[in-house]
Amino acid sequence: MEINIKEARFISSSPDLKGCPPPKLPEFAFIGRSNVGKSSLINMLAMHGNLAKISSTPGKTKLINHFLINQNWYLVDLPGYGYAKVSKNQRSEFRQTILNYISKRDTLYCLYVLIDSRIPPQAIDLKFVNWLGENQVPFVVVFTKTDKLAQAEWHRNVDLFKDKLAEVWDELPPMIFSSSVKKTGRDDILTSIGQAMESAG
Ligand code: GTP
Ligand code: MG
Repeated sequence: MEINIKEARFISSSPDLKGCPPPKLPEFAFIGRSNVGKSSLINMLAMHGNLAKISSTPGKTKLINHFLINQNWYLVDLPGYGYAKVSKNQRSEFRQTILNYISKRDTLYCLYVLIDSRIPPQAIDLKFVNWLGENQVPFVVVFTKTDKLAQAEWHRNVDLFKDKLAEVWDELPPMIFSSSVKKTGRDDILTSIGQAMESAG
C-alpha cells in the first residue's frame, strides 16, 4: 500500500492512555531517548515544519501527542525516556505512561524506536528494545541524525548495535536510517507504515 501524507492535523496532547483519542484508527508511534529527534522526524514525515514541537533542550515532549493523517490514521509523538534532569518521581511517571501506552494501545500498529547514530549502543536503548522483543511489540529501529557524522563512523555504531542485539535475538528488527536535516529515511518509514497497514488487512 502506498502511503502519502496529504493532510496532518494536531488532535490532542494526553497525559495518559485514558486521555488519548478513541482507539479506532491505526497508529504509528515514535519513541526514543530524549532529544534523539522524534518530533523532528514526525515533522519531516508530515512535511510540516512545526507540527510537533522541537527543542534543543531535552524533555520537550512530555505528553502523548496525536496527529491525524489524511483523516484516517495517526502519527504519535511520545515523551522521550532517560532524561536525567527530571525528578525520579517524574521519570517513573513517564516510564509508566509510556509502558502503559505501548502495552495497552490496541490500535498501535508499529512503534518506531529512534536511536542516535552518533553514539555507540546505550544500555537504556538496548534494554528498551529487548523489552519490546520480549513483549512481542511490533517495532522498527530508526537511526537518527545520520547527517552529523561521516557514513563510516555512524555505520560503525549501527554495527555495534546489531552485534548487541544479536547476542540476544536470532532475528534482528527492521532498521531505517534517517536525517531530518537532509530529509532522508522518509520514504523508508512511509513504506514501512504501508506494509504494517497491509499486513493488518
Ligand atoms: P524530546 O521531545 O525532548 O524528547 O526530544 P525529541 O526526541 O522530540 O527531539 P527533537 O525533534 O526536539 O530534536 C532535538 C534536537 O535535535 C533539536 O535541536 C533538533 O533540531 C535536533 N535534530 C533532530 N533531528 C536531527 C537530525 O536529523 N539531524 C540533526 N543534525 N539534528 C537533528
Ligand atoms: Mg519531542
